[in-house]
Amino acid sequence: MAGPPLTDSKHGRVLSGRRVLAATGAATALVCAPGVPATAGQLPASTHAVAAPRVVPAPASLRTLPGVSFTLTRKTKIVARPGSGTAGGYLAGILRRSTGYPIPVTGAGGSRGAISLVVSRHEKGEAYHLAVTKASVRLEAGSAEGLFRGVQTLRQLLPPAIESPTVKPGPWTMPGVEVADSPRFAWRGTMLDVARHFFTIQQVERYIDQAALYKINTLHLHLSDDQGWRIAIDGWPRLATYGGSTAVGGGKGGHYTQADYTAIVRYAAARYMTIVPEIDGPGHTNAALASYAQLNCDGKAPPLYTGTDVGFSSWCIAKPVTYELLNDVLGQLARLTPGPYLHIGGDEAHSTTAADYATFIEKVGPIVGKYGKKMVGWNEIGAAKIPPGSVAQYWNTAKGSEGGTQTARDAVAQGAKVVMSPANHAYLDMKYDQSTPLGQDWAGLIEVRDSYEWDPATLVDGVTEKDVLGVEAPLWSETIVTNDNIDYMTFPRLPAIAEIGWSPQARRSWDDFRVRLAAQGPRWSAMSVNFYRSPQVPWPAS
Ligand code: ACM
Repeated sequence: MAGPPLTDSKHGRVLSGRRVLAATGAATALVCAPGVPATAGQLPASTHAVAAPRVVPAPASLRTLPGVSFTLTRKTKIVARPGSGTAGGYLAGILRRSTGYPIPVTGAGGSRGAISLVVSRHEKGEAYHLAVTKASVRLEAGSAEGLFRGVQTLRQLLPPAIESPTVKPGPWTMPGVEVADSPRFAWRGTMLDVARHFFTIQQVERYIDQAALYKINTLHLHLSDDQGWRIAIDGWPRLATYGGSTAVGGGKGGHYTQADYTAIVRYAAARYMTIVPEIDGPGHTNAALASYAQLNCDGKAPPLYTGTDVGFSSWCIAKPVTYELLNDVLGQLARLTPGPYLHIGGDEAHSTTAADYATFIEKVGPIVGKYGKKMVGWNEIGAAKIPPGSVAQYWNTAKGSEGGTQTARDAVAQGAKVVMSPANHAYLDMKYDQSTPLGQDWAGLIEVRDSYEWDPATLVDGVTEKDVLGVEAPLWSETIVTNDNIDYMTFPRLPAIAEIGWSPQARRSWDDFRVRLAAQGPRWSAMSVNFYRSPQVPWPAS
């Protein structure tokens, strides 16, 4: 990570590694080695460096306790009080691998020397309070979900090697802190496009764990598109077996059985992450239209498609079979999905007339409602009549009151909330710079700073803080095939979007963020995450 001089491309400054460290204060504090009793008149036997806390997303409030620290030992246990859900087991799993300590998880016991997880009436929802003192670590939250979010902060207080899958030497010391924290927005999402290229359950689970570290709580799965249909539907087997049989570039594709999908839902739920399944329509439907001739207005199935064009396919709006199919698909997905949302797509319907588009959205909205779910769609759905309580996902690059923003205002006027995914800030598939080997550039080149420096509550005129449900960073996969590809485009930009979703706007600044982000680099190295070493970030030299 040392490499060439660091260039801040926005300002054209070239900084030596040393100057970056000095400029950003990326120093470590020397504190007394904890666990070594400092008896009267005697200096501690040794000292070691404890890095200052560098947490992403920035907590609403974090106070360091000078000279105080807590060190994990072979005797450390986790006391997970009743109601603490998966948080204790999840934390123990991470700590055991790298420390080699037994780290038992018990439901009761004294807090001295322990990490205590406590559900408390004093906190609400995802809010948590974390106190690291010399004697103990105490994490309190109003819910198991809040404890799980707090565990992510706790992990980031420990040295980066804590993320190693194999035993490392330690010492495992965290600085004394008092953190009081809660999220700005309820929806802090990312999206995997499993349609352009298919990703296995294991790949999706790996992504879930990576995102959970940054308090992402929503995973949107783009399950169908022109190039592939990725979920088995009872009564319509060819959608998956034929429509899912290929991918961009002509690879072999793949699909999830309903049991596979349920496994992903469960894995996500154990990390307090909601799955939002998307079946895109009326455009982006070639894989389905290729699978069943009767879905086409002319009764003829088109060939499978493995290119990357958009806007050429449409459901046949006038045919009842279109809605029979969607009734089955959305009904089955509703049954398999505990979360409150079904995403019906609605983007780039360039082969559907405006009148047909409106007819389609107005027929699908009630189907989603009938199955007890809220409808999510890309912002174009605002042009049609949508049920109150729907969610419009804003993906355009327009801002202020420019043309492309009107559908977002139209959605809000109908009682919808907005999830902000502006392509020129939040799309993880855009190249970082001209030399990025993966990705696209139609929405621009997005360096880390571009992904970080925007405010969801002021981007679009008429869509204000109260209208914004949250933010989401979509990873479209036309050029994304491997875990290394996923990692490279996701890190470090997903943490930038995660911080926008979690941290108070007043706590956010690029100069502060880039330093905290730099501290994630060694964590990603320990986790074998193939991240992009942006020249905008002062990565540590080792
Ligand atoms: C989109 O990028 N077509 C939502």
